Amino acid sequence: MFADLAPRIDRLRAGGHPVGLGTILVGSDGASEGYIRMKMERAESMRMASPHIHLGDHASQSEVIDAIGRMNSDPEVTGLLVQHPTPPQIDFDAALLAIDPDKDVDGLHPLNMGRLALGMAGPVPCTPAGIEALLAHYEIPVSGGEVCILGRGTTLGRPLALLLTQKRPTANAAVTVVHTGVPDWPEYTRRADIVVAAAGVPGILRPEHIKPGSVVVGGGVRYEGRKVLPDVDEECAEVAGWITPKIGGVGPTTIAMLFKNCVEAAERLAGLR
Ligand SMILES: NC(=O)c1ccc[n+]([C@@H]2O[C@H](COP(=O)([O-])OP(=O)(O)OC[C@H]3O[C@@H](n4cnc5c(N)ncnc54)[C@H](OP(=O)(O)O)[C@@H]3O)[C@@H](O)[C@H]2O)c1
Repeated sequence: MFADLAPRIDRLRAGGHPVGLGTILVGSDGASEGYIRMKMERAESMRMASPHIHLGDHASQSEVIDAIGRMNSDPEVTGLLVQHPTPPQIDFDAALLAIDPDKDVDGLHPLNMGRLALGMAGPVPCTPAGIEALLAHYEIPVSGGEVCILGRGTTLGRPLALLLTQKRPTANAAVTVVHTGVPDWPEYTRRADIVVAAAGVPGILRPEHIKPGSVVVGGGVRYEGRKVLPDVDEECAEVAGWITPKIGGVGPTTIAMLFKNCVEAAERLAGLR
């Protein structure tokens, strides 16, 4: 993905068109600081601008909205994200609404969720988009198959269901979404060809919940300090035919999609798409 993006960034720069990832961090959460640093370093290594605003732990909602406004109107910023989670006094949904939808690299603005639901072009939420790309890259058949997603959250389960039911060869699946309202959810995961764990409950998906030889994608994780606890019990590897790595599973593809969204936004602004 990054190899594909590099010449596109060069083309933009050569044409005098800006391409940059703007980031806003509120507070001093160690993990979030690490994620932002990693994204900025990646942007710099891709020869992209990486304007950053860091607000303190006690920043107000209006300071956050003001920072978003400055990034929205900065021509260097073609893609923008506010790192989640934000401190409790911040209304993250309201912040999301303030982001220019065409710069929304996380693809989480309601307008972009609407575009996804309607099959219109626009930035797609990064973790779901990365999962579709991952399955396509490993030539795992999705079209016509049964996919069961454990979790209906807005960053992963729900947009992934919208994506994998779209009519194209790398999607086109029969998708079931299960959650806490479906107590017998293992009945559904056990019959699926592909199971995506998107609950954020460590070890929730166990070997007895999956069909032998099926594909298991671990998306959900819980952070406890520096520890990352995945949804997928490691014994699933004994039963699955194909499984994402225990740690870092869909992290790299999520980042790749963030940069894809950022470059595509720059191309749209430059009139190249
Ligand atoms: N690796 C990455 O880069 C990446 C990126 C994004 C998200 N994630 C992870 O993906 C996970 C999902 O995130 P999200 O924001 O989409 O979702 P979320 O808002 O955290 O929601 C979790 C979903 O899981 C369901 N769930 C929780 N416990 C369950 C249980 N015991 N049985 C059945 N269903 C259960 C919930 O059901 P209800 O709706 O009924 O409450 C909910 O739909 C999180 O762990 C997040 O950290 C990872």
